[in-house]
Amino acid sequence: MSNVALELTNVRKKIKNKEIIKDVNLAIRQGEVYGFIGPNGAGKTTTIRMIVGLMDLSDGEIKILGKSIEKDYKAAARNLGAIVENPEMYPFMTGRQNLRHFARMYDDVPKGRTEEVIGLVGLEKAIDEKVSKYSLGMRQRLGIAQAILHKPAVLILDEPTNGLDPAGIREIRDYIRRLAVEDNVAVMISSHLLSEIELMCDRIGIIKHGELITEQSVKEDSEEADQSEIKVVLDVKETEEAIKVLASLELKAEKEGSQLVSLMTRETIPQVVYKLVEAGLTVYGVTGVKQSLEDQFLELTGGNIIE
Ligand SMILES: Nc1ncnc2c1ncn2[C@@H]1O[C@H](COP(=O)(O)OP(=O)(O)O)[C@@H](O)[C@H]1O
Ligand SMILES: [Mg+2]
Repeated sequence: MSNVALELTNVRKKIKNKEIIKDVNLAIRQGEVYGFIGPNGAGKTTTIRMIVGLMDLSDGEIKILGKSIEKDYKAAARNLGAIVENPEMYPFMTGRQNLRHFARMYDDVPKGRTEEVIGLVGLEKAIDEKVSKYSLGMRQRLGIAQAILHKPAVLILDEPTNGLDPAGIREIRDYIRRLAVEDNVAVMISSHLLSEIELMCDRIGIIKHGELITEQSVKEDSEEADQSEIKVVLDVKETEEAIKVLASLELKAEKEGSQLVSLMTRETIPQVVYKLVEAGLTVYGVTGVKQSLEDQFLELTGGNIIE
């Protein structure tokens, strides 16, 4: 188990007697990407503002690598990088000039680090162009490059996928994973859309009305995945015969158009395919449909959690 990099303990926030954040507890390990999901107004930005020291806590404690953000801000902030609102960049300067400017503001950015972060976020080609020419996705990357200049152990990104197209989101996904894997950074990334960040996260937590209502691991270990039931779509020419074959394996199947749908474990699939072929049926395709986390959460929460 790697170390906990970011830890929130019994964190609460009251604004004008209204409880905005209610007793949030969470811990993110080094090298872990944690998705912080919730509908608009759930309390994501408020939580993040407390983590980065832009807002006081009403109660509880936040620690970065064991250092309290309230009691030991300087030591905690040394290990923290964040983009909370839009990254602040000078549009008339190039990407490289912006990074050099920000590097000078930190005490201890080692030589060569600027080049390193440019590579990490994949901005090599555009780095000598003026930021005013950058797309939103490129600005976002430059913002992240800036946020990781001082090699923070924890990187916090508040809704970085907002306004990005699918290609931009995929790019973010790639370099966030790289940061976690190669630099062992703990990343907390918020979004109101589970689907946009699910694929880059190891774990996600759902916040609703200021409460962390559930946390779930995204990548199931393969053994577990093999033994849990998934929906399987069978495209077989002779559907009636196929239903009988499935019944002989104690599997129920339902017709969906010209196809059959059945629930089975992943490890059962090869056997099913074998039996269908053995019975002389024409098998066009067998597809396992993994239920997405979004479906699971919709089920879990009665359908109104994710906007
Ligand atoms: N400074 C503030 N004063 C009063 N209410 C606030 C303030 N900041 C946030 N809120 C309220 O707190 C709740 C959570 O907001 P926020 O953290 O911005 O949610 P999210 O980022 O998940 O969309 C909202 O109901 C919002 O209106
Ligand atoms: Mg917000």
